[in-house]
Amino acid sequence: MIGKSKGSKRRRPVVIRTQPTLERMLTKWRARQEKVALVPTMGALHAGHLALVRLAQRHADRVIVSIFVNPTQFAPHEDLAAYPRTFATDVGALASLKADAIWAPSVEAMYPEGFATRIVPLGAAMVGLEDAFRPHFFAGVATVVAKLLIQCTPDIALFGEKDYQQLKVVTRLARDLDLKTHIVGAPTKREPDGLALSSRNAYLSAGERAAAPTLYRVLKECASRIAAGRPIAPTLEDGRASIAKAGFVLDYLEARHAQTLAPIASVKDGPLRLLVAARLGKTRLIDNITV
Ligand code: PAJ
Repeated sequence: MIGKSKGSKRRRPVVIRTQPTLERMLTKWRARQEKVALVPTMGALHAGHLALVRLAQRHADRVIVSIFVNPTQFAPHEDLAAYPRTFATDVGALASLKADAIWAPSVEAMYPEGFATRIVPLGAAMVGLEDAFRPHFFAGVATVVAKLLIQCTPDIALFGEKDYQQLKVVTRLARDLDLKTHIVGAPTKREPDGLALSSRNAYLSAGERAAAPTLYRVLKECASRIAAGRPIAPTLEDGRASIAKAGFVLDYLEARHAQTLAPIASVKDGPLRLLVAARLGKTRLIDNITV
């Protein structure tokens, strides 16, 4: 096929830097009753992000991808300065997918001088998982996600299960603040060896990359043992030992209620999710699966 056949042309998504421009675009779309989806990201896009964009396109007429490396969710000792920034490549990838717009405000536009508000989520944000190791993290995420949802007023916003606790926190946030956006979760995209795709995988040395799939392997082993009726606590103890043996420094490997993220002692107490975070050298990896 020639001419305007679907997929033959690369339509560049518009890159929007200011709120008035964003609002003009949204007003046009709304006038046509088009359904709008937002995919919030920090850029350095990989196939996991792009799967969210594709899912968004199935659910909506227009897809905005936000690219904003949010300083408020990084602690001073964390990797804000080193965080991969690949804007030109990201725009190319989103053009191939025919995303409609990229919302990429500057830090000054997002947090102008005098900015003095923070949203501090409770509930799933205080269950002793990511919050125990990154105490500043969810307030930074909640504040920026609330701002993104207010700025873009999307009908739906998509978040990956890869960041399972974040997905729960954001879902609650949208409800609690009466935001009109429906939060949609999307399954984790993985490398062929099971490693969950992450922008931070770029930090891994060759040796670390070879060890990294251990996390998913251990999650799967633990899940199948627990599903087969083995008790949770000793199963997780074995899992923790395997992770340490592969060279990780473990932050946590836990079994939690899949909805509330509360600790759970037995499969009878509700649907289970296994969640893990561990460091390989300087790189911190997280993952999770259902049981
Ligand atoms: P970022 O790490 O860029 O992730 C953006 C979105 O992509 C998140 O919803 C995340 O869960 C999802 N994602 C990441 N890896 C994935 C994978 N392997 N499979 C499926 N989805 C994946 O998460 C953030 O940015 C930020 O905290 C943000 C929500 C944008 C707020 O700043």
